[in-house]
Amino acid sequence: MTDHVQQKARLCVLISGSGSNLQAIMDACHGHMLHAEVVQVISNRADAYGLTRAQQAQIPTEVLNHKTFADRPGFDAALADLIDRCQPDFIVLAGFMRILTPGFVERFLGKLINIHPSLLPKYPGLDTHARALAAGDREHGATVHFVTPTVDAGPPIVQGILNVLPDDSVDSLKARIHQLEHVIYPYALDRLIKGNVRYRHQQAQWADGRADNTPDIIRL
Ligand code: GAR
Repeated sequence: MTDHVQQKARLCVLISGSGSNLQAIMDACHGHMLHAEVVQVISNRADAYGLTRAQQAQIPTEVLNHKTFADRPGFDAALADLIDRCQPDFIVLAGFMRILTPGFVERFLGKLINIHPSLLPKYPGLDTHARALAAGDREHGATVHFVTPTVDAGPPIVQGILNVLPDDSVDSLKARIHQLEHVIYPYALDRLIKGNVRYRHQQAQWADGRADNTPDIIRL
């Protein structure tokens, strides 16, 4: 009898900065919580600390400096070529601070996953923690979602929620959201890799039969 060992999912992680989410994903892979391997890390910034994290884990890295391209389509075409070379099952945006062209997104639809530091559809874009505080929100969180051509508007897969504390500042809230992200991103990838959820007909469709676009909720 031959043992059937399912191949690990291949993840290509895109970063622009610290890479703490990348670290959480690499740790989940190494700790066998995620049946996956990070096969490539790509940064648009040469000084991103996430590159050091990847190198320490012996994961191949590439820097693709957007400033050396004349326009967005040129950058995205080069990025797509790099991604194609590593044949990923999922392309994981982990603090990748570039707006992607619709053509790029369409090419990888269903495989492109992002994490955003708000309870989408609230607060797409930047400064999410300050906006949640200014609005007096009692809850704040982070969303893992499929990427679609409209920025921060793709179907949600998992949302992490926490209570905003009376004395929270932008920094304290941001730090706790980061901790939450480090839980929900590996969790969401596990759901995807196991086929519990997939992108179909522009929706996040669950194998358990629940309504489309009904994310798992994790509260910390
Ligand atoms: C994370 O908080 C992530 O949600 C956010 O950037 C941070 C990256 O942190 N992403 C966005 O704002 C995308 N719109 P990290 O580099 O330490 O993982």
